[in-house]
Amino acid sequence: MLEETRDYPEDKAHLYSLLQKDLMALVEGVREPVPNLANASALLWQGLQNINWAGFYLVDGDRLVLGPFQGKPACIYIPAGKGVCGTAVAEDRTLRVDDVHEFPGHIACDSASRSEIVIPIRDGKRIVGVLDVDSPLPARFDSLDQEGLEGLVRILERACVWQ
Ligand code: SME
Repeated sequence: MLEETRDYPEDKAHLYSLLQKDLMALVEGVREPVPNLANASALLWQGLQNINWAGFYLVDGDRLVLGPFQGKPACIYIPAGKGVCGTAVAEDRTLRVDDVHEFPGHIACDSASRSEIVIPIRDGKRIVGVLDVDSPLPARFDSLDQEGLEGLVRILERACVWQ
């Protein structure tokens, strides 16, 4: 476990390097996805400014199911290809949406959300879930956030044994 609560810096390169270090410490020796995703969402909630939701959806057949998260209660099922999350899975790529009101089919779990980033999680063969982070600010996520969050997802991919 982390021994103390950090004050995370604003500088994004420094911030994500600390978050990646802390996530590696949290997942060390833990192979189950649920506790690792739960701690990862808590870490993001603690470390990222100007966000209103941070968490995971897991692939279950042809839909996504709500996983561990921080923020307001969210929709439980997202059909494949729907919303930002389902589209990121269908297109097998990170989606950064500067204004969710402009994204056709965006699913508004929290009406405060204005921008969003969704990153697929892969087990080597297939997509097993997504990381989803929402912000009340438009265009909250830039390429540094994408790079940093993708780095965190790579740590989770390696740490967990996916079902
Ligand atoms: N906005 C997402 C749905 C999940 S919530 O943001 C937590 C989407 O359009 O897929």
